[in-house]
This record gives sequence, structure tokens and C-alpha cells, in this order.
Amino acid sequence: MDRRRFLTLAASALAAPGVIGRANASPVAGQSLPIPQILDVTGSADAALEAIQGTTAFVEGGAARTMGYSQPYLGPVLRMRRGEIARPVVRNRLDSPVTAHWHGAHVPGAVDGGPQLAIASGGTWAPELEIDQPAATLWYHSHIHGQTGRQIYHGLAGMMIVEDPGVENPGLPSEWGVDDIPVIIQDRRFGRGGELAYDLDMPTVMHGFQGDTILVNGAVQPNASVARGLVRLRLLNGSNARIYTLKFEDGRGFHQIASDGGFLPAPVARDSLVLAPAERAEIVLDLSDGATARMVSLPDANSPMEGMMGGGGMMQRMMGGMDRTDPEAVTDEGAFAVLSLTPDRPAPASQALPRVLAGGPAPTTAEPVRRRRIDLQMGPMAMRGAGNPLAINGQSYDMGRIDFETRRGEVELWEVSSDMMAHPFHMHGTAFTVLSRNGRSVPFEQLGAKDILLVDGKAEILVEFRKPADRAAPYMFHCHILEHEDGGMMGQFTVA
Ligand code: C2O
Ligand code: CU
Ligand code: CU
Repeated sequence: MDRRRFLTLAASALAAPGVIGRANASPVAGQSLPIPQILDVTGSADAALEAIQGTTAFVEGGAARTMGYSQPYLGPVLRMRRGEIARPVVRNRLDSPVTAHWHGAHVPGAVDGGPQLAIASGGTWAPELEIDQPAATLWYHSHIHGQTGRQIYHGLAGMMIVEDPGVENPGLPSEWGVDDIPVIIQDRRFGRGGELAYDLDMPTVMHGFQGDTILVNGAVQPNASVARGLVRLRLLNGSNARIYTLKFEDGRGFHQIASDGGFLPAPVARDSLVLAPAERAEIVLDLSDGATARMVSLPDANSPMEGMMGGGGMMQRMMGGMDRTDPEAVTDEGAFAVLSLTPDRPAPASQALPRVLAGGPAPTTAEPVRRRRIDLQMGPMAMRGAGNPLAINGQSYDMGRIDFETRRGEVELWEVSSDMMAHPFHMHGTAFTVLSRNGRSVPFEQLGAKDILLVDGKAEILVEFRKPADRAAPYMFHCHILEHEDGGMMGQFTVA
């Protein structure tokens, strides 16, 4: 987007303040949590993933045109095993190009599903994925440059699970849909007819698109019938921009057992958990008291407007409508409901929370051979360098430009800084170790190995490049607020 278009959009937004309000359509009440099917893609015969168009009734009496992989909205949970080759076959039955990017998978650039690997309408893509990483909860989604936000918003995403047959953590809940529950959290906005609304103007692009209705696995604030005992939730923030602070309404604590890259060294006791877009966390909570537990989230405080106009300015008043995008609060502190868990099923025998967890990723400790700065820029700072309001290091994404060249097996220290608001920083092809955030060191035991890190200020990460990626299909690094990514806050690198 050039400077003139930016100014035009900004001006039109000024002329029409407060246009955003709650849709009239009301959610379909009392839905139960859909549990997506598992599609085993290691060595299996029929592992087709078809990008299709569908119709989904998210709200009472309404219908939305949606997209999904082999289903109207979202896709099956892909399961793959370490040490084996996964062979998903992706067919595109839509009328525009899509990709299937394996977010968090350590696979070469040539099969990573980035923007260069578009599958044309009618086309088929059959990558071979050599699974060579610890057990973890990942996800997959389309990654067409400029369309990623729209495509994921409409449903082109799903969860992915890497299992490690060589590792056992006895006692961990593992019965799918009973005490091992996939939880894909998204926020959406609906028009009067129940259609998905995804209208971008410049303030929305800068803020990141937020909805006023919470979906879990495609259902509005559903209820899950689960085991009366320990329950493991595989949390994935599949939202375009919203950051959740998750907790339980009754104040009950829980243990985090895994982050993006897999198991933590040991369970970490928590009362709440911040989950930025694209982040994953696995938690175990105890529901043996039989009471229904409601998971809620605090409102998202991330907003560019303070810094943009120096606070209290016209832009901020103009953006007043933005503050009303949060779903209806259910607690005094403004938290809204995400998911209810009703423990009305018998717990599988021999559940126990292990004291230590086996099979997690190890921290990267090697001396870095190089230091790089990655400045995530927006607004005036980005305009100055890139002539575009979203950029990294003074440049907006260009599919024809390689930003960094790195080498396999080398370790680099990346210093990532944010501008105007917190940005969830993501890189493809590896998982990194966080050294520090705003000058304070971060214990590996707390965060584990990450491929997404919410950067609010400065963060130092240690990156080891594990798989190759050439100029034809480089790896991406970007902000995972999808409107920022689509708008140019993305770069790409090769690994020789
Ligand atoms: Cu979730 Cu570039 O990806
Ligand atoms: Cu990714
Ligand atoms: Cu961002």
C-alpha cells in the first residue's frame, strides 16, 4: 500500500467514526464443543486435505460462507509421528490459490507451505514431510501473501499434532475428546444475516481485526463434556489479532505442560495464561470435584492508538468504537466466556500429573555466530523507511527479496523489537530459545521452545537453523497479527 492510499484510508475513517457495533445476529445457544476428527498423515493411504467452500451457521438463523480443509470450516487434526514421513495430499477446490503451511514444523522450505508454494485453483500438492522434532501441538493454515488474514478468518486452518513414539509420560491424559481436548480459540464478527464480516479499513489493519464473538473449534462459547478427573487442553490461539489472557472463572489453578515447541521440562503451576495469536499451550486441570469450570479471558489491551497520536488525540477518539469489540463480560473485571467444561464422563484409569516431563525440546545454548536486529515497525516509523505503514527494518515484504541468508547448524542471536504495540513474532522452520525480554532473562523452564513470541519492547532470542530453505522457497519471519503480516510486516530468509 502506498502513502497516498494510506492517507486516503485514514481520512475516510475519520469521516465515519463509530461505525462498529455489535451485530444483531445472536449466537446459536447451548452448543457443545465440536471435536475435530484426527487424520493420521504418516504413511497412511487416504490423507487428503481438500480446500473447499462451505456454509456454516454460527449464529441463530444465519449462514456464513466459509472455507475449510475437507470440512466447511477449519479442518481435521493432522497427526504425525516423529521418525516417519507424513504425506498429506492437499487439493485446492476453491477458485483462488491457497497454501498449506505447517506452522511450527521443522521441515525444509520447499515443503513448508509458504507464499511461494501456492496451490492454484484445481491443483494438488503432495509434499513429503520428514518429521524430526519433539512431540508438540502445531497447526496448519493457508499463507497466500495478502490473503492470509482473510483465508484463516474464513476457516482455512487446523490443528496438527506431532507424536513421539519414543517418549512416554505415563499418567498424562490422552483420550481424545474425553480428557485430551483440542481448543482452537478464535474471535469473529457477524453481519445481520450471520455472514462473517471481515472489513478492513486502515485503523482496523493497524489495530488488527478483532471480533466480538468467541468461537472454540467453530462453535460459539461452547460447552464440553469431559472426564471427571484430569483434563488436558491443547490450546491454540487461531485468532487474527486478539491476545487472550485465559483463566478460570472460579479461580482454580492449572498446570502448563507444553508450549509451542513441545513439553516443558516439568509442569508449571499457573492461575492465568497469556496466549498471543498463533501461540499454543497445553494445560492440565483437575476437574475431579465435579464442578463445571468456565474458562474466561480478560480483554485484549493491545492497541496502537496511544503511541500513534501521542495519546488522547483525535485518532484515539475516532477509535472509540474499537474498545467495544470485546464480547459481553461475565465477570466484574470484564472477562468474557470462552469455553465451559462439564466433567460428566468417567475419568480414564491411571491419570496422574507427572512431576517431570520427558521428551521436551532442549534449550539452545551454543554461542551465537551473529547478531541481527529485527525491528517490527508500524505507523510513522514504517512510513519513513518503507513508504508503507507496516514494515520490518524499514522494508515491507517483497516476495522477490531475500532479507537474510543463514546457515544450517549455526546459531544466531536475534534482537526483536516492537513498535507502537505488542507484536507476536514468528519464524518458520525452527523453534527458538528466549534469552531475555526487556532486559530481564527468561528461564527456559517457564517458556520452553517457541516459534511465536509476543514482543512488547525488546526480546533476545537464540535461533538455530535446522533445515534448508533456498531462494525458491525461503522461510518467513513475521508478525502473526494477520493484518500486519498481510500488510507487509514480514520478511524471508534462506538456510544454506
Ligand atoms: Cu502461522 Cu508464517 O505462519
Ligand atoms: Cu509458520
Ligand atoms: Cu504486528
